[in-house]
Amino acid sequence: MIKITILSGAGISKESGIDTFRDADGFWPKYDPRELASPEALKNNTEKVLEFYNMRRQKMWKSDPNAAHLALVDLENRYDVTVITQNVDNLHERAGSTNILHLHGELDKVRSMDNSDIIVDVEKGRDINLGDLSEDGTQLRPHIVLFGEPVPRMSEAIEIAKTSDIFIVIGSSLQVYPAAEILDFIPSYSDIYIVDPEVPSVQEKDNIIFIKEKATVGLPKLVNELLSR
Ligand code: APR
Repeated sequence: MIKITILSGAGISKESGIDTFRDADGFWPKYDPRELASPEALKNNTEKVLEFYNMRRQKMWKSDPNAAHLALVDLENRYDVTVITQNVDNLHERAGSTNILHLHGELDKVRSMDNSDIIVDVEKGRDINLGDLSEDGTQLRPHIVLFGEPVPRMSEAIEIAKTSDIFIVIGSSLQVYPAAEILDFIPSYSDIYIVDPEVPSVQEKDNIIFIKEKATVGLPKLVNELLSR
């Protein structure tokens, strides 16, 4: 079966109402990532960091998967699809995708401050506050890769990229490493599609096809074309 790998970024969730990071109306023009998404901030300003991720988790539950998330589910009818996402929302899961790899963690999970193997689900509507402890007695922290922390599933993602026949990037500025490195491992025989209203900075390759559209417009069109082959 033909293997299709997806690399999704914040842009796929934009039309569900979840801000991106580097657009003018995104998170990082509004909030300082060093204050809210770094290990130092988590240690020295725990309450503020917990509040930031509580706010994002509440927003996630108020948002629904959009036509782009749903189009990827349709693709599973004909192809062996793996969704590698940089996003920490659960919109791919709630759309119905069945094979998802979160590179940067998940908003609806938290973990022990000291032991990254002790991970617990956060039920819908719950906030995590100072004093909410893990079973090992340490403060519960977001199960999110903060800036400067390692990306544990990167090698898994690279192995998936290496076996892709078709690779589709949706809504990522491809400015964050190591995630953006994945493109370097796609075989030269694979077709690469990039769906984004702006053209992200990527090394020019003759097997890259840009679809300069919003995710909810460009992706369903591409999926229909792939399903009609
Ligand atoms: N449809 C498709 N793409 C869109 C849309 C849309 N409606 N709106 C914006 N975009 C595109 C932008 O043009 C941009 O290329 O989505 C991309 C968003 O880029 P970023 O905000 O940088 O998001 P992302 O690439 O996912 O960031 C990667 O950075 O802050 C960290 O951990 C965070 O996972 C995140 C990582």
